[in-house]
Amino acid sequence: MNEPLLDKLPVGICLVNESYEIVYLNAFFLDRMPSDLREVALGKPLADVFPEQIKFLKRRIKSVFVLKHPSFSYWEQRPHIFPFKSSRPITGEETQMVQNMEIVPHKDSETQQQYACILIQDVTAQASYFKAQTQLAEQLKEEHEAQRKLIRKLDRAQSQLIQAEKMASTGQLAAGIAHEINNPMGFVTANLNTLEQYAQNLLETCEATKKLFASHAPERLEDLEALFEATHVELIEEDMGALLQESKDGLDRVSEIVSTLRSFAEEPQHAWSYLNLQETASQLVQLISTQFKKPKYKVSCQPEQLKWYCETASFKQALTNLMMNAAQSIEDSGLVMLDIKQTQSGVAIKIVDTGCGIKETNLKRVFEPFFTTRPEGKGQGLGLSVAYSAIEKHKGKLVINSREGKGTVIEVRLPRLQEDDDTTANESASTAPSESL
Ligand SMILES: Nc1ncnc2c1ncn2[C@@H]1O[C@H](COP(=O)(O)OP(=O)(O)OP(=O)(O)O)[C@@H](O)[C@H]1O
Ligand SMILES: [Mg+2]
Repeated sequence: MNEPLLDKLPVGICLVNESYEIVYLNAFFLDRMPSDLREVALGKPLADVFPEQIKFLKRRIKSVFVLKHPSFSYWEQRPHIFPFKSSRPITGEETQMVQNMEIVPHKDSETQQQYACILIQDVTAQASYFKAQTQLAEQLKEEHEAQRKLIRKLDRAQSQLIQAEKMASTGQLAAGIAHEINNPMGFVTANLNTLEQYAQNLLETCEATKKLFASHAPERLEDLEALFEATHVELIEEDMGALLQESKDGLDRVSEIVSTLRSFAEEPQHAWSYLNLQETASQLVQLISTQFKKPKYKVSCQPEQLKWYCETASFKQALTNLMMNAAQSIEDSGLVMLDIKQTQSGVAIKIVDTGCGIKETNLKRVFEPFFTTRPEGKGQGLGLSVAYSAIEKHKGKLVINSREGKGTVIEVRLPRLQEDDDTTANESASTAPSESL
C-alpha cells in the first residue's frame, strides 16, 4: 500500500486481519481517535480498542470475510459507529462525527492474507443539511396545512360576508320599502272598503228619502230632487262603482310592485337561470329610485327582450351595488344611467353617473373590502368588492372610469355563458382611470 497517499485521503481507513487485529490505520482515522487510544491501537485486537462497537463490527467483518462482498452501513441507520469527533467547517463547533461505513474485502497478493478494510466517511455536514432540510420540509408542510385551513376559513368568511352584504343592501332596502308600502296599503285598503260601504249606505238613504217624500210630502219632492241634482247624487251613483274599482285596481298594482321588489331581492343563492335583463333593469331602477330620489334615472336595454344566463342572485347583487353607488354619488341633482347592450361575444352593461366621481388616489383602493369614503355607519365598503367577485364568477370584466367632480362610468363586460359551462374560471376585474370624462 502507498501509505503517504492513503494518509492524504479524506476517508478513515482501518485494516483488520482475520484475527480481528488492527494492522493499519491511516492518518484520517488516527487523528479522529480519542488521544489515549491513538498510540496503542496498532496491532491490538479491534475488541480492545473499540469494546462497545465490537459486536456490530465483528458481525459485519465476518460477513465480508465469508461472502467476500463489501458491507455498507448508512448514517441514517447507525450515525456514530466510531466515537470520533467532527468539527463543523463554518462554526468550528465540535460534534460527534456522523459516519457512513463501508467494509471491503482485501487480499494481499504476496502473502495471500485476507483483510477487511474499514472505510469511514465523515458525512456530518450532509447529515445536518439533510436533517435541516427534513425539518424545513416538515415545517413547510405544517405551514401549508395551516394556510389551507386559513384559506378554507377565509372562503367561509367571504361567503358569509357576501351573504351579509346581500342582506345589508338589497334585502334590507327591499324589505324596508315593502314594509313602508305595506303599512299604508293596509289602512288604505281597509278604509276604501269601509268608504264603499258608507257610500252605499248614503245612496240607499237618498233613495229611501226620495220614497218617503213621495208618499208623505209629495209637495216637497221637487225641492228634494233639486237638492239631489245640485249635489250630483245621480252622477255619484253612476260613477262611484267605477271609481272604487279603479282605486282597488290601483292598490292591486301597488301590491304587485311590492311583491316584484321582494322577488328581486329574494333570489335563491347560487342558482343559475335566464334573466330578462330589461325587466331586471327596470325593477332595479324602481327599487333604487324609491330610496334615492335626487337623481334622474334612465334605463335602456338592447334588444328589449334580452335573456341572460347567470347566477341570478349574485348578478342582481352586483348590479344593485353598482347602481346604489351611482345613486349615492349624486349630491343634489344629476343623472344615473343604466345601459345594457348585447355585444358579439356577450353583453356590455354601463352604469353612468354625473355624481361626485372618485379621487384618483382612491381609485386604486375602491375594490378593497371595507374601503369606504362614506360617513361612519353609512357604508360598509363592501359593495364593489362583492360586485367584483360576482362578476369574476361570471368570467366578466369590470372597468371603472372616474373623474373627481365629473362622474363615474362603470363598464361590465360579460361573456355569454352556457348552461353546461364551467363557471369556476375567472377573468380579472380592473380599474382604468380615464381622461375621457
Ligand atoms: N359611482 C361612484 N361614484 C363615486 N364614488 C364611488 C362610486 N362607486 C364607488 N365609489 C367609491 O368607492 C367606495 C367603495 O365603494 P363600495 O361600494 O365598495 O363601498 P361603500 O359604497 O362605501 O359601502 P357599501 O357599498 O358597503 O354600503 C365608496 O365609498 C366611494 O368612495
Ligand atoms: Mg357601495
